[in-house]
Amino acid sequence: MGFFEEIYIEKYRGISNLNLKNLNRINLIVGMNNCGKTSVLEAIQLLRPKSDIGILYKVARQRDSLSYMNSNSLFDNFICMFSKNDDEIKRLAVSGYYNGDRISYDLTGTMNSVFLDADDIKYFRNRNLDVPGDDVLVDAFDGKLRLEYMGVTEIPVQVNQYSLVTLKYAFNKYAQNIVYISPFDHLRGSIINKIIRNEEYKKVCLEALKLFDPDIEDMMIFQSDTGNRPVDYLRHRTLGDMPLSSYGDGIKKVLSISNAIAAASGGVLLIDEIETSIHKRFYDDIFSFLVKASKAFDVQVFITTHSIEAIDGILATQAYDSQNDQDDICACTIKKTPEGSLSRILSGREVYKNREAFGFEVRL
Ligand SMILES: Nc1ncnc2c1ncn2[C@@H]1O[C@H](COP(=O)(O)OP(=O)(O)O)[C@@H](O)[C@H]1O
Ligand SMILES: [Mg+2]
Repeated sequence: MGFFEEIYIEKYRGISNLNLKNLNRINLIVGMNNCGKTSVLEAIQLLRPKSDIGILYKVARQRDSLSYMNSNSLFDNFICMFSKNDDEIKRLAVSGYYNGDRISYDLTGTMNSVFLDADDIKYFRNRNLDVPGDDVLVDAFDGKLRLEYMGVTEIPVQVNQYSLVTLKYAFNKYAQNIVYISPFDHLRGSIINKIIRNEEYKKVCLEALKLFDPDIEDMMIFQSDTGNRPVDYLRHRTLGDMPLSSYGDGIKKVLSISNAIAAASGGVLLIDEIETSIHKRFYDDIFSFLVKASKAFDVQVFITTHSIEAIDGILATQAYDSQNDQDDICACTIKKTPEGSLSRILSGREVYKNREAFGFEVRL
């Protein structure tokens, strides 16, 4: 079981001193464009019981993951995680309470240059990487990672432009405990692998798909016609078996969220811009499915949104008008100020009661 009671982002990208308290099963992170919502979800991913430097590289790459052919190097992605306002000393620091224990990720260091000689460079040449000259001076980071969870570990971190080029993208080991889905995760290809492993859950997900098209009967993975790559398919009463890519984005989005809930079982799920690709008309049904499924799989969920309709849809999953005082929702609003990032934490019930005032602020 993984559950964050509290998260404090001391320094991460453009965020400083952001405190998220009284976290709940469903946590809404609300604020206008560019206030740092995605950055919050990135920072949370560093807080794992067995964290290391690799997770930072994975998170650093996340924003460019759909367009890495057109992006800078991983080293550049990595450097962009430190605040651009840092001078000599670069630092990023996130901490919190996870299952009642303190957890923290703190990387400090400085930028310098290292000299790579002909021998170091041979390695890159052999891989046809573009390396100027025989001896080169390259940008490097030299620092120390301090990890805390049931004890403290300190790890030296020395990386340069070229050492990160060769990093194998062996990031799958980080898929456990904390699962992140970007606003475009549903476009990344195969997205139903976890759903179809569980017959019961598959039935529940098919019910959710029937909102969009009552004739969808089943989902499965076939091998592609060009090789042995997995391709998602939906079985349709009149259209037959068709690749998922032939269907609309709303269906893909629901599947990608459903799959991620199962993948995050017993852990934490981060959903960035939940409303992307879903029509308002389906919000109530999809969010009630999301809350039920996250309880069934014991998943703590963090959701970013800037849509007041999405907030209403998520609040509607709770019985706030009844006498029952159960509340699964925490809402954090974020605002950027020159002094740091301001957060306001309210319970779902408080937001529900002050809906008008809150709605106004979200739209600010
Ligand atoms: N390394 C950095 N240093 C300072 N500010 C940064 C850095 N990286 C990103 N930002 C700021 O963070 C903002 C983007 O944050 P993001 O989390 O993507 O926002 P949102 O998801 O709410 O739209 C931009 O305004 C940018 O100025
Ligand atoms: Mg964002």
